[in-house]
Amino acid sequence: MTIHQTSTAGLDGVSAAVTMLSHVDGEAGELIIAGSRVDDLAATTSFEGVVARLWSAAGAATLDEAEVRVKLAEARLHAFRRLAAILPATDGLSIVDGFRAAVAAIGPQDGIAPEAMSVGAMPVLAAALVRRAAGQAAVAPDASLGHAADTLKMLRGEAATGAEAKALDAYLVTVSDHGMNASTFAARVVASTQADLFMVVTAAYCALSGPLHGGAPGPVLDMLDAIGTSADIAPWVDAALARGDRLMGFGHRIYKVRDPRADVLKRAVDALGGDKADLGLTAEVEAYAREALAKAKPGRRLDTNVEFYTAILLDALKIPRNAFTPIFAAGRSAGWTAHAIEQQRTGRLLRPTSVYAGPMPA
Ligand code: ACO
Repeated sequence: MTIHQTSTAGLDGVSAAVTMLSHVDGEAGELIIAGSRVDDLAATTSFEGVVARLWSAAGAATLDEAEVRVKLAEARLHAFRRLAAILPATDGLSIVDGFRAAVAAIGPQDGIAPEAMSVGAMPVLAAALVRRAAGQAAVAPDASLGHAADTLKMLRGEAATGAEAKALDAYLVTVSDHGMNASTFAARVVASTQADLFMVVTAAYCALSGPLHGGAPGPVLDMLDAIGTSADIAPWVDAALARGDRLMGFGHRIYKVRDPRADVLKRAVDALGGDKADLGLTAEVEAYAREALAKAKPGRRLDTNVEFYTAILLDALKIPRNAFTPIFAAGRSAGWTAHAIEQQRTGRLLRPTSVYAGPMPA
């Protein structure tokens, strides 16, 4: 028996927490966040609204959407004031790596709750890094805007359209929480040591960054670029699967049917209208990949996951692909902070055991 073949290698089916925050039904293809289906939430609630629900459900003070809107706006302003001190730590790093250093440099702020500072700082840091990479100065937050609209303004230096802000809002809501995914588990482990929320979100971001988790959407676009034309779909996908490569944006540990978030994000792309809604090659690649995976991995039930349409949506919003993972973190930080609060309220250190498979002393 090799270590990776043991049944516990991926902690499949192990419950690591009892939570009020979200529920993933992999057979029904359903995601419930704080009592509502993800598609309903994305259609009716802003990011601030879902943050209010998550923090309230976690047992922090009960907050509403308007209160969270004020708190996140204040946090964005404070994070912006700290940029001059933070950005030098990111010198020479890619946006994904620089974001890790920048998140690690965020700390407590008088008068701002740590969960608000952690979530509010994320888009400020991401936007500053994107602009810095393009040789542009950071753009100050606009506290009169919602979190999604301000994120786009800080990224672009000019206001986004209402439809674009709505599309990013739908994205942030959709990825706000998702059961015991790897980065949320990392968040809960760190929180269980009673480390503070800034430690928690730094660790969670590190876990998110890998291609098997939140690092996938950039490579989805790379795949679509590499395929290029309809005629090349079949040969490209077949060759990738024959090599044993994983197709980015497909497959999921929990979902055995289509990830419900994929459809929410596809609808958000459609709602943007114009040429952005023309999915042409994307839809053809998706259809062929699903068929090819069914043939190559019979019985594995591999379907489209959230990252496939994340890539299309964030690209349509003109967010550079090397910033997709930090933008994902901006959304998921809602769940990380809520889970950390919930975990700390249990007061219990997460400390599992391992099965020793090495030699014993003679
Ligand atoms: N392309 C090709 N083959 C795949 C893919 C894929 N996207 N996903 C799984 N497989 C294969 C595995 O290689 C394995 O093959 P085998 O049985 O011949 O060894 C089989 O399908 C079963 O895989 P699982 O072990 O059930 O998959 P696991 O739960 O470990 O992985 C994961 C889930 C990591 C998401 C995987 O599907 C993957 O790597 N997908 C591509 C990367 C990706 O899209 N990541 C984003 C995930 S969504 C999120 O985290 C927000």
